Amino acid sequence: VSFAIMFATNAFDVIVYDPIDDALRRATADLHRRLKQLHDHGGQREDCDTVAARVKFTSEPAAALEGAEFVQECAPEIVELKRTLLAQAASLTAPDVPLASSSSAIVPSELARGLEPDVAARILVGHPGNPPYLLPVVEVVPSPVTADAIVQQTIEVYRSSRMRPVLVRREVEGFLFNRLQGALLREAYCLVRDGVATVDDIDEVVRSGLGRRWSFIGPFETSDLNTRGGIESHAAKMGPAYEQMGAQRGQHDPWTADLVAEVTAQRRALLGLADWDDRVRWRDRKLIELRSVVG
Ligand SMILES: NC(=O)c1ccc[n+]([C@@H]2O[C@H](COP(=O)([O-])OP(=O)(O)OC[C@H]3O[C@@H](n4cnc5c(N)ncnc54)[C@H](O)[C@@H]3O)[C@@H](O)[C@H]2O)c1
Repeated sequence: VSFAIMFATNAFDVIVYDPIDDALRRATADLHRRLKQLHDHGGQREDCDTVAARVKFTSEPAAALEGAEFVQECAPEIVELKRTLLAQAASLTAPDVPLASSSSAIVPSELARGLEPDVAARILVGHPGNPPYLLPVVEVVPSPVTADAIVQQTIEVYRSSRMRPVLVRREVEGFLFNRLQGALLREAYCLVRDGVATVDDIDEVVRSGLGRRWSFIGPFETSDLNTRGGIESHAAKMGPAYEQMGAQRGQHDPWTADLVAEVTAQRRALLGLADWDDRVRWRDRKLIELRSVVG
């Protein structure tokens, strides 16, 4: 339903397929409830009925897929089920139609395992945040055999839906979103286990600290702007402490000189040090604006 909203609010026609009893009735009600909330809070200009009219529901795969130009598979996270659905979708659509899976962690090679090469070439992961119509990022994860044209077409469809696709350059379980989220959650669980903090203490540190900055800049830009001299200077000052914290958890991954040089080169290509002070002022202005919204 959330993907249907994301596509339909960007003028795509959508057909939602679900074979489970009562699922379509619940999905229809959910669609209307979510569209109304979006509209009531200024998240969508078109009226709800206009958007809802672009979404049809069916429990017939052939009816869902006839004439489809893009497939977004959103079934439960069970590899065999997803593989069966993707193979079925391949047989009911034109050979140039991308078959994107929403899988949160299963790599596309696994989804395509044992399928015909021409089908495997159409399979990739398009992993959103939840819900996709409110979080614009989508991870596009091809397998080594996914055709380049399919990857490009998928990126274009997402861009046309005002998503911000990020191409994941190598298959890795959990992709970027859940690996980053997992790193923070692993530490959070350890801190609760060790009696260092309560659950709400951890959430407070994120909602009133880390998360505020992360709502408009990522961890690399945060570090870059936190230390005069940029991320290279941050790594020199803080790298040894972070290395020790990782080693205490059995993860000894020092930021080597080569790695810091690579990260620094990528940051400096995005923001020259001559513009660093301006960007810090921009960050602070964003924090002021955010404070007036979230308190
Ligand atoms: N919920 C999230 O936060 C989130 C975020 C990103 C990606 N995902 C991924 O999206 C996928 C769906 O997750 P969800 O949270 O929406 O699950 P969900 O259980 O809410 O929805 C799954 C849907 O699949 C339907 N379904 C069950 N069997 C089916 C079948 N044989 N054929 C077709 N449809 C079938 C169900 O009726 C249900 O509507 C998973 O791969 C999940 O990892 C979820």
